Amino acid sequence: MVMNSDKMNRELSLEFVRVTEAAAIACGRLMGRGDKNGADQLAVDAMRSAFDTVEISGTVVIGEGEMDEAPMLYIGEKVGAGGVEVDIAVDPLEGTNLVAKGMPGSIAVIAIAPKGGLLHAPDMYMDKIAVGPRAKGRINLDASPAENLKAVADALSRDVDDLTVVILDRERHAKLIHDVRAAGARIKLISDGDVSPIINAGIEGTGVHMLMGIGGAPEGVLGAAALKCLGGDMQARLWPENDAEVERAKKMGITDINKILTIDDLVKGDDVMFAATAITACDMLRPVQYFASGVRTHSISMRYKSGTVRFVDAIHSYDRKPLSIRR
Ligand code: FBP
Repeated sequence: MVMNSDKMNRELSLEFVRVTEAAAIACGRLMGRGDKNGADQLAVDAMRSAFDTVEISGTVVIGEGEMDEAPMLYIGEKVGAGGVEVDIAVDPLEGTNLVAKGMPGSIAVIAIAPKGGLLHAPDMYMDKIAVGPRAKGRINLDASPAENLKAVADALSRDVDDLTVVILDRERHAKLIHDVRAAGARIKLISDGDVSPIINAGIEGTGVHMLMGIGGAPEGVLGAAALKCLGGDMQARLWPENDAEVERAKKMGITDINKILTIDDLVKGDDVMFAATAITACDMLRPVQYFASGVRTHSISMRYKSGTVRFVDAIHSYDRKPLSIRR
């Protein structure tokens, strides 16, 4: 079955939120416990089970790794209870260190598109630049940081020193950070988790105007799916560290490793859907909260076709919840 029914998509968008809620509820319990692998495993297990209740015939195209290295949600794994055929990108716990340390910015996240709609991004680095709707068409990954900042500032009718750029705090970004500082923009350095700031860049009022720098390629596709729904813009280029990674990208169908990937290369077509639930606090989402009789979650659900951006503030009762949300 092709994913072409609006009604079907509308109904599915809430189902997808249930999937990210389940992952967030499960792994949030390990917040600050210093156990990033344990937290990740809880998120993976919960997300995998939640997919069993969703009426799709899904194929994981971005997941927890290859079949031989990931027992669940591996690339190529089929998920869902049967229904429309879709490709799925998952990151049950984006920001494992953030949860392990109890720091802000971790989310459970998925993107869904018709078959072939999501770039099969290999697990390697990707250079990214991401902005919101008002700066669409104004970024160029090959331009200097100063040029990009000026173009985005002009698009937002503000000065460069009133822009805030999010950059992963890494040695590899020393020159980028220097150049952005020299251009006069404000910087928010983050220790992990570059999907959440990409979403923020797409939403006015979050105080984030751009994300720049090198992070995970799978996270790049997830971020692009969010930005596409929000009408924002992104450019990216794979950043392999060795020949084996170049070969791996080729095997996954990416022949020109140096090509600038536009947002439409990362996420093709006009039928993408995106859902994320905060695990720890994010700029636009509250963290999972556990209390005596249940759990409260805060999620974002988006659909490119309708342009609807929905914030879902949910209370899950221990008494009546079909999904296991207890510890
Ligand atoms: P994990 O959730 O797998 O720990 O990834 C977190 C993350 O910070 C991503 O958001 C980011 O894209 C990538 O890791 C950056 O990689 P590195 O830590 O190697 O710089």
